[in-house]
Amino acid sequence: MPKIHSKQISKELSLLRVDDDEVRYFEALWEIENGITYNSYLLTGEDEVILVDGWKREYADDFSEALKDLIDIRDITHVIVHHMEPDHSGSLAKILKENGFRAEVLGHPLVRGMMKAFYGIDVKFRAVKDGERLSLGGLHLEFFHTPWLHWPETIMTYLRGHGILFSGDAFGGFSIPPAIFDDDDEVVSSYLPFVREYISTIIGSYRQHIPRNVKKLMDQRLEIRMIAPAHGLIWRKNPERIIEYYLKIADGIPEEGKVLVIYASMYGSCEEAGNIVAEELKKQGKRVITYGFTDVRWASINKIIGDAVDSESLIIIAPTYENAVFPTISHVADLIARKIPPNKPILVLSSHGWAGVAGKKLAERFRSANFSVIDVVEFKGKPDEDVKKRILESVSKLLSQSSTN
Ligand code: FEO
Repeated sequence: MPKIHSKQISKELSLLRVDDDEVRYFEALWEIENGITYNSYLLTGEDEVILVDGWKREYADDFSEALKDLIDIRDITHVIVHHMEPDHSGSLAKILKENGFRAEVLGHPLVRGMMKAFYGIDVKFRAVKDGERLSLGGLHLEFFHTPWLHWPETIMTYLRGHGILFSGDAFGGFSIPPAIFDDDDEVVSSYLPFVREYISTIIGSYRQHIPRNVKKLMDQRLEIRMIAPAHGLIWRKNPERIIEYYLKIADGIPEEGKVLVIYASMYGSCEEAGNIVAEELKKQGKRVITYGFTDVRWASINKIIGDAVDSESLIIIAPTYENAVFPTISHVADLIARKIPPNKPILVLSSHGWAGVAGKKLAERFRSANFSVIDVVEFKGKPDEDVKKRILESVSKLLSQSSTN
């Protein structure tokens, strides 16, 4: 049974949150062993009941029951859709059916067609313009188009007078925090790595839209007293903290001394190269984080992407496999190239049996994404003393060019 939180936050505002500890691969791609929450909100005005987003389809029945404990679903007058990804919109078809389709759906112009395409429903729809204001039952709403956080149709809603920003995916994170609000610094500190992982995996390809949209909000001089995202903690103690954190991760600001070593090793040669570089980096006072794919363990790709974004440099090690890059590292390299800011130098090492191509192909992939590839060391079989010397020279070159040096 999922844990459900139904909490009245103020006279007008209630939170409905479900803790999804059943999901294993978010978007059927990202391994999230610590789960995720879906946050919906209910705003009650004088004569209006406004539902803000929903839960994933798998929890539609639970969502309906949780709503019925608070209101008569037929009394919902408006549904604000900040984002059509089904982790939020998946339950709305059921709720709208139970509502008799009386509620007006408010959202980006794309939402109407997506509702039809995703759920086969025609809804009473009102497209909201960027910057549009709307007063409903004494609640003064202001809508902002915030494209690509995380799809093109994403919007945010500001509740004027209350200082609440409903932000959809933005300012959210993975995992199930053991609290509703950001009141406890220890809870926040444990949660932030999951936010970093969420930004880099889910929004990473659109990262330039984070500062762009934050600037747009800041230009409005909104007094933001609370950020209510669709995932994770609600920020009321320190909303600036999550805004600043999002900006920092979007820019890939490196944590001083953090170096990521990622390798795949079929029979131990690349793992040995990984051990050589890790040992040297540690000698140089670096904080080394190593992820390996071997015949007895596979690293979490989520964690790799989350740790890559704020590393000061990266070392990628892969065998040549069928005249190409070994598949796991090929996949990881592609994700890094797409989702991580290229402000960190990369060293590529590669082992082969008879002919090496993986090093060259990896370097090409990273360079095509504007990363600086400091060196490529291709070697036959296990690293011998000569190879070890070349690797150590390359590590030294890498460190001399790391962004925090
Ligand atoms: Fe939480 Fe992009 O959906």
